[in-house]
Amino acid sequence: MKKEPYLVKLEKGKNYAWCECAESNSQPFCDGSHNKVNKRNKNLIDNLADINLISDINNAQKIIADKRKEPVVFEAKEDMEVNLCGCKESNNAPYCNGTHLNS
Ligand code: FES
Repeated sequence: MKKEPYLVKLEKGKNYAWCECAESNSQPFCDGSHNKVNKRNKNLIDNLADINLISDINNAQKIIADKRKEPVVFEAKEDMEVNLCGCKESNNAPYCNGTHLNS
């Protein structure tokens, strides 16, 4: 993950999937790595429960489910060059909103 935007060319009418989990090797686009991240988080909760470090596994699983990582899928409305967020902190994802300048 880089802490700066990615300047990319988008084609009108084409769908894109912006990586939210930050582990894709095809940044800023999704390569399916979020599945590995989600599975790793679930396994972590299960393992902590197995050794009795979590008393309320249902609540822990709900928290993990709420934090599931999924790509942001969007369609380019026109041919354009845009800055897609690389820091994963933009509240206007998939687009850079300048938040990276504050970190
Ligand atoms: S790269 Fe600019 S807000 Fe994330």
